[in-house]
Amino acid sequence: MRKKILAANWKMNLLVEEARELLDNLNSVNVPEGRRSILALPYIYLSLGKERITNENISISAQNMHMEEKGAYTGEISGTQLISLGVNHVIIGHSERRTMFHEDNSILNQKLKKALELGITPIFCIGEPKEEREKKTYEAFLYKQLKEGLEGISKEEIKTMIFAYEPIWAIGSGKPMGASDIHSMCEFVRNTLEVMAPGVKEEVHILYGGSVNGSTIDDMMASPQVDGVLVGGASLKYEEFKRIIEFEV
Ligand code: PGA
Repeated sequence: MRKKILAANWKMNLLVEEARELLDNLNSVNVPEGRRSILALPYIYLSLGKERITNENISISAQNMHMEEKGAYTGEISGTQLISLGVNHVIIGHSERRTMFHEDNSILNQKLKKALELGITPIFCIGEPKEEREKKTYEAFLYKQLKEGLEGISKEEIKTMIFAYEPIWAIGSGKPMGASDIHSMCEFVRNTLEVMAPGVKEEVHILYGGSVNGSTIDDMMASPQVDGVLVGGASLKYEEFKRIIEFEV
């Protein structure tokens, strides 16, 4: 049985005192059976997160990593460094990394391979821009992101991965995709993965991301295709993210 994953992406937000308070509050949340929360923190708070979060149903994740294990890469963080902190999840390919930091499918493929080699579970983000949605070419766009991103990655490795479908036009917009479209898109991603790597369908976790909040979560999670959510803005507010973790079925 796949677990339901309620993941937070803090992005570049919160000062240290705010981070400490939010972590301590979240640590006390009673994560319901069959669910897991993952908190993707800014690098500077990963140690803090590892110290403060003792709740065994909450994991700490990085928001990015470099594909090399060490060396002269000023400002970068490696997977081996994450492992040495006990961090074993990482977001790879968030649309903000793809667009603002020019991370293309081939770079992301190298990052995914390194994370998997080191035993770090990647949360691999895919998602189309508004134009692709309007032109109705989004399926081909997503297919290419998956195909090139997963090049050379084995079926057994794909099974362990978490995928996050995040339409770029919905991120930070305050307007999430409707629940029935989320259902169809998660189903599309699952079926596409199955075509690429037969046998992975029942194992992979597929999340939705883009303006998820406490008032829309119940409808989104009603679909068996949706294994969870990746939450930006609403994950910075304790009551709101707690409500998301405690979604009602
Ligand atoms: P949002 O961000 O919830 O603020 O739209 C989601 C994300 O970018 O992962």
